[in-house]
Amino acid sequence: MAAVPATIPIWWGQAPHIMDTFVESYDFKGKKLTAICTSGGSDIGTSADYLQKLTKGKAEWKPGKLFSPQAKAEDIKSWFDGLGF
Ligand SMILES: Cc1cc2nc3c(=O)[nH]c(=O)nc-3n(C[C@H](O)[C@H](O)[C@H](O)COP(=O)(O)O)c2cc1C
Repeated sequence: MAAVPATIPIWWGQAPHIMDTFVESYDFKGKKLTAICTSGGSDIGTSADYLQKLTKGKAEWKPGKLFSPQAKAEDIKSWFDGLGF
């Protein structure tokens, strides 16, 4: 089973609607997912909750994480590898 990270900019405290469309457009059955976001200062909050609801009963989600827009790929990979997917 593949792990699919979704990268989300926080818009008005939530994921942009295009992310809903993205998640609705694919069959994530059996996939393991998490959400990675960037923001101008807000925390990740509930921004991934609706995305999780869209895959309810199909995908397994792990808690996501906010990264600085300047985060290095190694930082993200290190966190991702620690999720245990
Ligand atoms: C329409 C819009 C709404 C935004 N709302 C928020 C917000 O509620 N909280 C926040 O911290 N940043 C907000 N931002 C800033 C973005 O989260 C930030 O620019 C983005 O994470 C950085 O990625 P980018 O370089 O792809 O824009 C908003 C940006 C836009 C364009």
